Amino acid sequence: MWNKKDLLGIREMSKEEIFTILDTAKEMKIKIDHSDKRDDSLKSESVVTVFFENSTRTKMSFVLAGEYLGAKVVDCLVSASSVNKGETLIDTGINLDQMGTGCIVIRHQMTGAAHLLAKNVKASVINAGDGINEHPTQALLDFFTIYEKLGSFEGLKVAIIGDINHSRVVRSNIFGLKKLGANVVLAGPSTLISSDMKALGADVTTDRREALENADVVMGLRIQLERQKAAAFPDLREYKHFFGIDSEMLKLAKKDVLVMHPQPLNRGVEFTTDVIEGKNSVLNEQVKNGAAVRMAILKLLLGGK
Ligand code: CP
Repeated sequence: MWNKKDLLGIREMSKEEIFTILDTAKEMKIKIDHSDKRDDSLKSESVVTVFFENSTRTKMSFVLAGEYLGAKVVDCLVSASSVNKGETLIDTGINLDQMGTGCIVIRHQMTGAAHLLAKNVKASVINAGDGINEHPTQALLDFFTIYEKLGSFEGLKVAIIGDINHSRVVRSNIFGLKKLGANVVLAGPSTLISSDMKALGADVTTDRREALENADVVMGLRIQLERQKAAAFPDLREYKHFFGIDSEMLKLAKKDVLVMHPQPLNRGVEFTTDVIEGKNSVLNEQVKNGAAVRMAILKLLLGGK
């Protein structure tokens, strides 16, 4: 059962809503594996992607998800749009509404941009990442991957290691994993991990070993040099020395630990290549599951219209 117009954040979602998406994504994944991936369940619908920040996985998987369900999918290329003539986000949205757009998928550098748009348009709005606030569809594909592999969230230890302060993925994951019954431990340099995170219900450490010890899931986060206003550590080699994870370090976690990363990654920094490509890595499954989860979200938001 789904009755929300928009998908804006995990913070405002219930556990039941999360499971509705995961259950629908399971059906959608079967379609992706089928030789004929397409159906026409959303053939009367249209989806517009509006990305103010770069993306490979999120944008492309929304485009393909819409296409697999028969919707018309169009990209509004921000760099070639009237945003560059000073048009506001709300005016852009109202214009897309007038064209009959069913759903707007937006990524924006400003926290709350998707919420602002959703309040001002009739179309369903999906938050594909707003500043350092939330990235709900990434977290949902992470939950789907964990659920598919481990069967439950209850009592799991999820270690998230890297650039915590600049990560919207970490916030969405904390909100959801806590609702689902998992424990979250965050680790990173003290310059990249604020004690505010404790208020969200996560444990915080600057010792990667403490985070890795007996973990069921290890999630690496990219060092976001583009969002750092001042250098948070001397250089990436220094980061790797104190916080990088190689196969020896991974032995501190459970034997069947899931190695995850939202990507893009700094190869050889957050994880060594043998960890990225090792038997515990589910990075490729995460990407595939991203398409299934985004199909599920489009189906739930647009299917009942
Ligand atoms: N994980 C993720 O959001 O990747 P993109 O930036 O490529 O969309």
